[in-house]
Amino acid sequence: MKDGVYYSDYLQLDKILKAQMLESDKSGKVHAHDEMLFIIIHQSYELWFKQVLYEVGSVMDIFAKGKISDNSPDLYTVHHRLKRVVTILHMLVGKIDILETMTPLDFLDFRDMLRPASGFQSIQFKLLEALLGLKMESRHGKEYYISQLRPEDAQVIHDAEKTKPLIALVNEWLERMPFFDDAKYWQGMDTNSFWDKYKEVYSASLADGEKNNLLVFEEQLLSNVSKPEWSLSPKARRAALFIMLYRDYPLLQLPFGMLNVLLEIDEGISIWRYRHMSMVHRIIGMRTGTGGSTGKDYLSGALAKHHIFSEFAALTSFLIERNKLPQLSPSLKEKLGYNS
Ligand code: HEM
Repeated sequence: MKDGVYYSDYLQLDKILKAQMLESDKSGKVHAHDEMLFIIIHQSYELWFKQVLYEVGSVMDIFAKGKISDNSPDLYTVHHRLKRVVTILHMLVGKIDILETMTPLDFLDFRDMLRPASGFQSIQFKLLEALLGLKMESRHGKEYYISQLRPEDAQVIHDAEKTKPLIALVNEWLERMPFFDDAKYWQGMDTNSFWDKYKEVYSASLADGEKNNLLVFEEQLLSNVSKPEWSLSPKARRAALFIMLYRDYPLLQLPFGMLNVLLEIDEGISIWRYRHMSMVHRIIGMRTGTGGSTGKDYLSGALAKHHIFSEFAALTSFLIERNKLPQLSPSLKEKLGYNS
């Protein structure tokens, strides 16, 4: 055998493969066959959460560097890593199929031995929510949210909530969108008259029952007053809507991909929540969770409320038909092309 790195040392398999300690194998208890699957599934989720946090952390570091240039490799790297997160999330949904091979009766063999432990105490999951931008005040059951954690773990979450989350970094990136503040690209039409024209077309596109949308459009996009509960400022929303509308131009394709990948992350987490919740319903019915929550009802509340990037999704209410888009000036078109 050659010298050098050895497979099991490199992967530290001695630690990982000895880390499955079944509660049901402790003295005085009855071995529960499916507890091994239960532990391995959770451990593999936590490993993947670690990878997701690693990717998200690296993306946040790139954004936090300051001026991320749309013309540099940075934006590509950010997009590529977030796409990887989406792929991981899809795979994590599929893993629920494996857990569902455990029947409710199999689970009952060891379920009561787990109290009060619960996936609810997954620090990495809570950390991910906080780093992406879920605010404490928006959390479902927030009074219960931290109470199940050890003080040192609760502190990790509190500290994460003090850092600028990904959504705030994206908001700043959008606010810095180049050429919006540069009159030379708007010959014959400054950005204000662009949005006035846009409002006119948008207003004409609304059905009778949608007229209120115009007020929301004015408040969320045209005014320059942000509300504390908003994650996106009006300036950032204008930039995001502009990207969605003119995304066929080369310079906007990657920014458009960025907005999309954030929605895909939200969707990936929601689909996981939904699958987890229906699995929970199937396996414990209406019983409370081992973590002491109302079980399925708690999870259903979190599913409904814990969307992080929904303000981007909401912008699609303000789209207009492509053939009615205001024409951009030649210099702006050139700026958005490959030769800019
Ligand atoms: C038999 C399988 C499972 C059951 C019956 C179950 C049940 C529950 C219940 C009832 C809750 C609500 C909190 C509580 O009162 O305990 C919960 C939360 C949670 N579980 Fe599971 N779970 C299972 C498997 C998993 C797996 C494999 C993971 C993967 C890491 C997981 C991750 C989580 C997370 C992250 C939460 C917190 C969700 C949130 O706060 O929105 N669970 N689980």
